[in-house]
Amino acid sequence: MLGCKPIRPLLALAIGATLCAAGHASEADNTARANQLLAKMTEAEKISLVHGAGFFTSPIGGGGFVPGIERLGIPPINYADSSSGINLMGKNTTALPATLALAASWDPALAHRYGTLIGSELRTLGFAGGLGGGTNLAREPRNGRTFEYLGEDPLLAGTLLAERTKGTQAQHILGMAKHFAVNGQETDRFNSNSVVSERVLRELYLRPFEIAVKDGQPAIVMCAYNKVNGEKACENKHILSDILKGEWGFDGYVQSDWVMAVTDTARAANSGTDEEEPGSANDNEPGLMGRGTWFNQKLAAALQNGTVAPQRLDDMVRRKLTMLYRHGIMDAPPVPGGQVDRAAGDKLALYAAESSMVLLKNAPKPGTSQHAPLPLDAAHLHNVVVVGGHADAGVMGGGGSASVPARDGNAVPCRTPGAKDSVIHIFDLCAIWHKSSPLEAIRARLPGATVTYFDGSDAAAAAAAAAKADATIVFATQYTMEQVDLPDLSLPDATRDPANQGYDQNALIDTIARRARNTIVVLENGTAVTMPWVDKVQSVLAAWFPGEQGGPAIASILFGEVNPSGKLPITFPASEQDLPQRAISSTNPDVDYDEGLLMGYRRYDAQKRTPLFAFGHGLSYTHFSYTGLHVTPYANGDVSVSFTLTNDGPRAGAEVAQLYAGLPVDSGEPPQRLVGWQKVFLKAGESRKLNLTLPAARFSVWNDGWFVPQGEASLTVGGSSRDAHGLKASFSLGKRLLAAGA
Ligand code: BGC
Repeated sequence: MLGCKPIRPLLALAIGATLCAAGHASEADNTARANQLLAKMTEAEKISLVHGAGFFTSPIGGGGFVPGIERLGIPPINYADSSSGINLMGKNTTALPATLALAASWDPALAHRYGTLIGSELRTLGFAGGLGGGTNLAREPRNGRTFEYLGEDPLLAGTLLAERTKGTQAQHILGMAKHFAVNGQETDRFNSNSVVSERVLRELYLRPFEIAVKDGQPAIVMCAYNKVNGEKACENKHILSDILKGEWGFDGYVQSDWVMAVTDTARAANSGTDEEEPGSANDNEPGLMGRGTWFNQKLAAALQNGTVAPQRLDDMVRRKLTMLYRHGIMDAPPVPGGQVDRAAGDKLALYAAESSMVLLKNAPKPGTSQHAPLPLDAAHLHNVVVVGGHADAGVMGGGGSASVPARDGNAVPCRTPGAKDSVIHIFDLCAIWHKSSPLEAIRARLPGATVTYFDGSDAAAAAAAAAKADATIVFATQYTMEQVDLPDLSLPDATRDPANQGYDQNALIDTIARRARNTIVVLENGTAVTMPWVDKVQSVLAAWFPGEQGGPAIASILFGEVNPSGKLPITFPASEQDLPQRAISSTNPDVDYDEGLLMGYRRYDAQKRTPLFAFGHGLSYTHFSYTGLHVTPYANGDVSVSFTLTNDGPRAGAEVAQLYAGLPVDSGEPPQRLVGWQKVFLKAGESRKLNLTLPAARFSVWNDGWFVPQGEASLTVGGSSRDAHGLKASFSLGKRLLAAGA
């Protein structure tokens, strides 16, 4: 190895290999080694490396497979879906909370650990690449895949994905960012066309990718199914070649999404797609969707007739080989057959779930002398009622390629066994249920009390019991999945979700809330939820899809063993009427992003609408105060911010201190944007002065290039995007051209 700086991470020791550390010294070597190998390859070998072998061909059960080339020492590449854990049956893989929950933690260090755990399990099981890293912004919360993404803000999403990627790749696994780009909904996803202006593209929808690519350096970017401004994302030169590879300097490879992302060999190859998945042995066979594939025989023909240049094929292969060297796949190929470390997985799953739940509401019942019901005080509870959501059995997980099988089998039988999505017929309409019972965890904390469970099907009976109980905890679930958008954000009933719901959850909560002494609602949700009953209940906890340790994590938050510290990464709208599009059209393939920058909280702020719960909102059992805000612009365009955060409440806890900037009025920007945050743990009574330096790019706008607009700006710090007790300061921005937007 030419000048390779050897490192011996734990993993390398375990597999008896020495890997090259990523870094400048070894980067030149990676390229040199890739070029040497490339020079030895035949055209057929090159072609074999740029497409998968077909659906379900991975010998170890992954979602994608590129066979190796033994004579050249190139190992097979197995990819596995791994959004919040590895989607592989029977291998004890860890189901972490959904990535939307990760976003709700606002914790980059947790994102790193999340990525590390997934990377280490992938390696243990013999995979080289993880198909995770979803970061499409939640413009449309009815999008069935919202749970696999990182919320509605580009800075939050990009920062967390960068950290996750670093964690994964430090385990010598190819990390990923997907689905590039503007893949905002599932309806008609193979044909839909996201129509979006360049400014909005740059400032919102590409930005999380830009941050993740530049800071996290994923080996792979997966291009999406949809079109962007008329061109399929995987055949879109503007986003793939000009922006991703050109402007951002992405040196990894672009992998196509799975079924119908590529529709033309030359267009895809020449626009910048480097690998077609899942590919096939014969491009001319119809395959799953009847449209064949494009990067095998058809690529050979395109090389032959000159529509794809041999240099382009070399570039595709060079990129892949460079990544295989950089991430230690060549020198220490993943070996299947290892055992996942269950204890490590359980520990992180619990911590991540506890760090990500958002306490949305916690207030005393009006007209009573009661306190807010949470945290529950075991010493004063004699009679507790728990209702619904299969809380006796487990917690819900999201569906599609991002699902993670329940380790010990599904805790809840499906109401319509075998039901699949109606488009590609491979995704289960039946939810995953992890055997992690909240009821059991609640009972364990109330050994002397009577805890009665009602399954929710008889609202009157549950309400009658609730009337006599000290506390009533109602569990409600909202299944969401790939390929299927939600009709609305209402908690589903048996009509909307026949596979998983037997009754009207809104009616159940309403009926109980009318009679109970206090009502605590726990949501297991894949996206925002509308709450017609919100004024009638005292507490609402968003637990998201909380992963395999959801039961104990919910209980530890309810009983105050852990102080809730999650904050919303998406706005919860008061009604679907407030969303950029009234409904998701199933007939018009053009999805017009004509709301421009007014998406998520930006929209609510600009239109002065009150959401149900604002972006960044999340309560705690203690109280935090902000004092002494100072904002100082530096000569280089960065902005220095300092303030003091005090926990002046009764308990230890973590706060996410959020910084929002209002740009000069004539910049055409929404009233505020997130420009930074810090998650800080403080003991009761503790204060800390925080100093943050915000890079100039956080204040930039796009107008045929990045620039910071000149004029009077403002900076707000607080515990949400709408913190009435937040602090605000003005400062001046000087006009400045920037080389990049992140
Ligand atoms: C999804 C990808 C996934 C792939 C492989 C596609 O349908 O959009 O996110 O990685 O399938 O399972």
